[in-house]
Amino acid sequence: MAVKDDGGKVRFAIVGTGLMGIEHIRNLKLRPDAQIVALSDPTRRSLDKAKAALGEDANSVETFDDCAAIVAARNSGFALDAVIVASPNHTHHDTLKPLFGTGLHILCEKPLCTTLDDARRTVDAALAHTERTGGVFWVGMEYRYMPPVAEFVARVKAGAVGNLRMLAIREHRFPFLRKVRDWNRFNRNTGGTMVEKCCHFFDLMRLIVDAEPTRVFCSGAMDVNHRDERYAGEKPDIIDNSYTIVDFANGARAMLDLCMFAEGSRNEQEIAAVGDRAKLEVLIPDGDIVFSPRVGFAPKKVEREHVVVDEQVLRAGHHHGATYYQHGAFLAAIRGQGAVEVTAEDGLRAVAIGVAAERSVREKRAVELDT
Ligand SMILES: NC(=O)c1ccc[n+]([C@@H]2O[C@H](COP(=O)([O-])OP(=O)(O)OC[C@H]3O[C@@H](n4cnc5c(N)ncnc54)[C@H](O)[C@@H]3O)[C@@H](O)[C@H]2O)c1
Repeated sequence: MAVKDDGGKVRFAIVGTGLMGIEHIRNLKLRPDAQIVALSDPTRRSLDKAKAALGEDANSVETFDDCAAIVAARNSGFALDAVIVASPNHTHHDTLKPLFGTGLHILCEKPLCTTLDDARRTVDAALAHTERTGGVFWVGMEYRYMPPVAEFVARVKAGAVGNLRMLAIREHRFPFLRKVRDWNRFNRNTGGTMVEKCCHFFDLMRLIVDAEPTRVFCSGAMDVNHRDERYAGEKPDIIDNSYTIVDFANGARAMLDLCMFAEGSRNEQEIAAVGDRAKLEVLIPDGDIVFSPRVGFAPKKVEREHVVVDEQVLRAGHHHGATYYQHGAFLAAIRGQGAVEVTAEDGLRAVAIGVAAERSVREKRAVELDT
């Protein structure tokens, strides 16, 4: 485990200081046990925005060209414990390389990588990193850490619905935002929408169903968004709506209903777990959990509860407080006080379901997965 400064703070570098890097900065700033000491981003404007988000702390932050420069500085005595990689998806594989074997604790944003080969190589390197140096490796899967979702998952796992048979996840939201240099408009940079965006939901499916997927069928297309956009003459190729069905080895089935031209929806995420005894739902951003036990033809006994999230935490990001709580779990793992909850293997498996879904769309067939 890394040596901390006298204040006991974990010292962080943020690599990639665009939208998500800044969300990490704003959330780490809420934690007395964390300090941001380094930034790295090839885009001047992103660095300037990150410094603005840091406020006074920007005066004591160092900037570096890349991870190799960060590691070289650390080898020469620069005090650093942890790195958050929030660069574009297709850069994760190479960005991570210099960090492996250093003993640094690493949180890499989802998706782990954009291809299965890169993800597999990264899993091997991450395992060796932890084994040889004790450095934690964690994949950013914020949706697990939205407090209402975390409560929902805990209740399903505690048996609230009985034997879980069906899990339906609906995300009806706004189109993909513009990103720095428009990297997210092309599958080659993102892995495809089913990897980029939906790895969150495939990760949730594995977590909640507690089994591995065996078959994926996905029907999707780019029907509404981005059709008139051109980047150096090239038209985007990313899915903006899809239905995905995932069969699991324990017989449970899950589905994802994704629509990215539905920003008028009251809730952006609606998740429903149905078992042989009851149905449990969670609604984001309403923050409500709805329990509907089976009652036959007797009067319904629906119970609705609201899960409160601290206002300051809600304001620090775009993910219903998730980034703050994920940092808490990551810091606990760094201190040896908690497990690594989202492993490199979890990251790989979420990518694998997304890759299978993308292939299913292209080939118009169900894709089998090895468990
Ligand atoms: N977990 C979530 O809910 C969530 C939400 C948004 C984004 N993300 C992930 O975070 C990552 C960043 O997404 P974003 O929305 O912040 O994109 P963005 O375009 O807003 O920012 C990306 C930043 O990375 C910089 N960059 C490019 N190449 C780099 C490199 N090799 N090294 C360091 N920095 C580099 C860019 O200059 C830019 O400032 C992506 O992997 C994305 O999938 C996760």
